Amino acid sequence: MRTLVNLDGSLVAPAEARVSVFDRGFLYGDSVYEVIRTYGGRPFEREAHLARLAHSAARIGLSPRWDAQRTAAEIDRTLAAARGADAPEPDAAPWNAGERYVRVVMTRGAGEIGLDPALAVDPLAIVIVQPLVGPPARAYADGIPAAVVGVRRASPQAVDPSAKTGAHLTHVLAVREARAAGALEALLLDDAGFVTEGSSSNVFAVAGGRLLTPPIASGILEGVTRAVVLRLARAEGVPVEEVPLRPEDLERADELFITSTVREILPVTRLGDSPVGAGRPGPLTHHLHQAFRRLAGGPVGLRVRR
Ligand code: PDD
Repeated sequence: MRTLVNLDGSLVAPAEARVSVFDRGFLYGDSVYEVIRTYGGRPFEREAHLARLAHSAARIGLSPRWDAQRTAAEIDRTLAAARGADAPEPDAAPWNAGERYVRVVMTRGAGEIGLDPALAVDPLAIVIVQPLVGPPARAYADGIPAAVVGVRRASPQAVDPSAKTGAHLTHVLAVREARAAGALEALLLDDAGFVTEGSSSNVFAVAGGRLLTPPIASGILEGVTRAVVLRLARAEGVPVEEVPLRPEDLERADELFITSTVREILPVTRLGDSPVGAGRPGPLTHHLHQAFRRLAGGPVGLRVRR
């Protein structure tokens, strides 16, 4: 398949998917969004994503063009229209083959230039459907490098972390810093030096057989995958603690992993210049990922081409 865009209800090719330079999503990041993925062609945790989209919009006082029901219908319509074979990706993790990435964006719309949200007249609704390109199989087998960056997550008093908005500059700069350090994910601290989350992921540590992750109150996005992982871990009898973590806790951890819609549960085997634990994906990370794979459906095992 090729990328397909649903622009306010019209299905168009990417080259025709144009929005106004006066759109506030473009000018100010004045928008909310969700990233959803499919398994077996069906959106995973769709209701949780749509509920978070509504929550994000309410938190910033944005009235989306579509309600949840219409959004669900437009996602389905776009996915159906985007059906078709994908070019084989030899390095893809097997559970991603043929699956779709779905990005839903709701902007406050265009209007006279000016910060006042009352200037917006025409809210915009967009669904982008693309072939899902997740981390390659090798990333699951070997883990990835991450780095705690100097860029701090905006304080919860300044920017509501529970709203998934299009205002991303902090996280863009965090990724820039991480990439310069040879890392694939940036981990951001808050102003007091506590670990919050990744640039587009939540973070978990394993220490002494316990699963640790920063609490929602630490100023993080309440990740849909995070919630699934906490549910699975508790169901598997793994001791779970949502506790404030310092960078030292990550450095001393036996295992680290990040979670996100596109990455599922991805082991982190280097933190900055040091290996995490034994420098290999750890047993609890593996166990939880297998449980996640069984829940989401599709292949559980991994074949890695080297
Ligand atoms: N990002 N934290 C932040 C800041 C994020 O942007 C994301 C997701 C997550 C993980 O949330 P979830 O498990 O619901 O995907 C945590 C999406 C995937 C993105 O921007 O691509």
